[in-house]
Amino acid sequence: MTPDGCAVELYERLPVGDEPDVIEGAVPARARILELGSGVGRVTHPLVERGFTVTAVDESRQMLERVRGARTVCGPIEELELDERFDVVLLGSFLIHTGDLEVRRRLLRACRQHVADDGCVLIQRESEDRHENLPREREITGGVIRVVSSEPVRPGVRSVHVEYLFPDVRWTQTFLSRPLTTGAFELALAEAGLAVDSYLTGDRTWARALPVTGPSRAALLPRVGKRAAGADAATG
Ligand SMILES: C[S@@+](CC[C@H](N)C(=O)[O-])C[C@H]1O[C@@H](n2cnc3c(N)ncnc32)[C@H](O)[C@@H]1O
Repeated sequence: MTPDGCAVELYERLPVGDEPDVIEGAVPARARILELGSGVGRVTHPLVERGFTVTAVDESRQMLERVRGARTVCGPIEELELDERFDVVLLGSFLIHTGDLEVRRRLLRACRQHVADDGCVLIQRESEDRHENLPREREITGGVIRVVSSEPVRPGVRSVHVEYLFPDVRWTQTFLSRPLTTGAFELALAEAGLAVDSYLTGDRTWARALPVTGPSRAALLPRVGKRAAGADAATG
């Protein structure tokens, strides 16, 4: 199990979805990608096969041991200090919804710090109805993912319980999620010096953001919204 409660064997078994297509469609061919929270390489491997050069970061050594064809860096994303900038920084798997505001701030700081001035950051976020109409099931190759429940635990934070069901084995995971409206999401990014450039999917669960520098960075915050109604407060 990883510190955030993911089972390594589960992630070896989970099939990849449309993530590689979404990513490939949003970035230059053969780009250098920094993938944050890569796990066993479920998304890494198709990206490597498509000609991208990937650096995979994860705090779980057991996860990274399964990654092939990519450089690996073991450690918390929040503490990442690579002496390098990348064409693309990828923050997938809804990591931006961490229950801890300070961790979220530091995850976004790592994205901003490691993206080249002419690069981009791709972020996967929850759909706005993610916590509604539960339980909900989705079939995957060989099994079913069931989001069982989502209960408020403190202002702005929910506890989500998910089951992964296969004929021979069943995993469960419970984790905290801090939902973000689109406005709050964009403001959280703006506070980190990132401006949303486009949404890559119809449900707005994938966003591409560009690094903001100089005076335009200061101009971004008032344009997005007042801080008092911003990223932290809007999630409550
Ligand atoms: C839900 S799994 C997803 C893995 C992979 N992105 C995928 O889609 O298959 C989340 C991964 O992110 C890693 N992770 C979560 N928070 C992290 C952090 N703060 N620093 C480093 N790794 C983290 C976990 O160890 C785990 O491997």
